[in-house]
Amino acid sequence: MEKTLIILKPDAVQRRLLGKIITRFEEKGFQIIGLKMMQISETLARKHYGMHEGKDFFEPLVRYTTSAPVIVMVLKGKNAVEIARKMMGATFGLKAEPGTIRGDYAVSNRFNLIHGSDSIASAEKEIGIFFKKEELFEYNPTDIQWVYDMSTGDIV
Ligand code: RTP
Ligand code: MG
Repeated sequence: MEKTLIILKPDAVQRRLLGKIITRFEEKGFQIIGLKMMQISETLARKHYGMHEGKDFFEPLVRYTTSAPVIVMVLKGKNAVEIARKMMGATFGLKAEPGTIRGDYAVSNRFNLIHGSDSIASAEKEIGIFFKKEELFEYNPTDIQWVYDMSTGDIV
């Protein structure tokens, strides 16, 4: 089972889209094992998006990320990183396919509602940065045997 870090960005909070977006992940079958509201500091924003430092959109991206509270959450499931990225859609609102979160709710190239870890390695790193151990929960979802076929000993 993989874990991935999701951030519902300031525009998702301000536009009251939190419930709709969280519902999509719940209905898909993911388990939410951590969730909280926070305001991302400038230092944290610069660190989180450090790979984009020096690009022309970096400073506006830091301003956007820190401009209002966000929701951060950790999703758990098989192939969680890849599936969550697919559900988010392409980075730019214009390019994101209808049916994806950005495709359905975003038109902007910057205000695109959601962040998701882009690899298993970055998920592990990002979860460690945003969550303390005691803020993540291990529990058995009662419907897990109907989300996956576990009858063979594998998770299918
Ligand atoms: P994220 O990291 O937030 O999950 O988004 P992503 O992987 O789809 O896209 P990435 O290339 O990592 O870009 C990070 C965020 O920067 C903003 N952005 N603005 N040209 C621009 O103005 C521009 N390009 C990117 C977006 O908010 C994007 O999600
Ligand atoms: Mg990215």
